[in-house]
Amino acid sequence: MLDLIKKKRNGGVHSPDEINEIIDGFVFGHIPDYQVAAWLMAVYFNGLNDQETAYLTDAMMRSGDLIDLSSIPGIKIDKHSTGGVGDKTTLVLGPLVAAAGVPIAKMSGRGLGHTGGTLDKLESIPGFNVDMTAEHFCDLVKKHGIAICSQNSRLVPADKKLYALRDVTGTVDNISLIASSVMSKKLACGADGIVIDLKIGDGAFIKTIEDASKLAEIMLATAKNMGRKLVAVVTDMEEPLGYAIGNSLEVIEAIHTLQGKGPDDLTELCLELGAQMMVLGGKADGAASAKKQLRALLENGKAFEKFVELVKIQGGNIQYALHTGHFKKATYKFEFKATFSGFVKHLNAMEIGLASVKLGAGRETKESAIDHSAGIELIKKVGDTIIEGDVLAVLHCNNEKLFVNALEHMQKAYTFSTEKPEETPLIKTIFA
Ligand code: URA
Repeated sequence: MLDLIKKKRNGGVHSPDEINEIIDGFVFGHIPDYQVAAWLMAVYFNGLNDQETAYLTDAMMRSGDLIDLSSIPGIKIDKHSTGGVGDKTTLVLGPLVAAAGVPIAKMSGRGLGHTGGTLDKLESIPGFNVDMTAEHFCDLVKKHGIAICSQNSRLVPADKKLYALRDVTGTVDNISLIASSVMSKKLACGADGIVIDLKIGDGAFIKTIEDASKLAEIMLATAKNMGRKLVAVVTDMEEPLGYAIGNSLEVIEAIHTLQGKGPDDLTELCLELGAQMMVLGGKADGAASAKKQLRALLENGKAFEKFVELVKIQGGNIQYALHTGHFKKATYKFEFKATFSGFVKHLNAMEIGLASVKLGAGRETKESAIDHSAGIELIKKVGDTIIEGDVLAVLHCNNEKLFVNALEHMQKAYTFSTEKPEETPLIKTIFA
């Protein structure tokens, strides 16, 4: 391993055997974390070329079980977000698209860096179980049209271990590492079609449209090679999505969205991604007719019914879905107020994500426990008018001392102006 670290440090190119050696050695515990951490940093600075990225994706995909969904009738569609702040899209999209008849077999991850994870959010519903065998996962999708499971130790174990190590070594935001992480999971999970929500902006791992295009290109090529369909929708992550950040706060916002009462940005994103999933899944001719069908499912209660069914079949207490007042509330609340009159000019999603981690909603190390009730409720977002003293956001926390650390990030997050800022589109472009 030392030779391989030096090779990458000196700008060398790995062979497929070398990549397999690193991944197998790491997964089986022959190569320690500290050596893989050093290799990741060498990759971060010197990169992997397209061939090495393909080898890495393949080695990671084959590090565990490959799920065979062929016994489930229909075109199975998966969705993945490259990670954002307040991104509770899967909680809405899964049941919404399943209600439209597209089988959803979804393997999700945990929080990474300043971004939250679907599994952590779902686990704020008492009893909700995300660990299951591949057989049980398939059975649920066959019977109910939906299941959301964790990439447990049998599914892409290489990504589980690498993801956790990257999170604590500053090596998350590298295009090849992101592409191999996302695609190894999506390919192992066996769906026929994949919709990627590729986030760009302050709160995302990808900051520019050029990097987003490159990442989309790598993912499209990988999917094509493996005989799968893929669409990458590039979406804005300058400011957080919706108003809730933090696990149970986000579940509550997702429930409202499934009941047709969600924030405009989250609803718009779910309709766009959902429409792409329906078209890939052969349930609609085009995005416009798909969106019409999806909007009807939000309005007639069918999407929310599917969410309640999902909670029930995965062992969660459905009372939490039916009456969101059951969710445990944080002991302390702190109002963050405006010191300026005018408009919110910018709201930095990364700073908001970091503030919520400081409050206990995310992980600072891979062993950190999540506080499900901690988080941030935004009251004002970009373009909103404010008067000095208005509450901009409410911080939720179970340890008063944590507010001080979060405050520093909140102060950096909001910037103001006397003129209304221009609106930026949520959906930037689509690669197919
Ligand atoms: N999402 C993933 O699944 N992997 C990454 O590396 C980044 C975002």
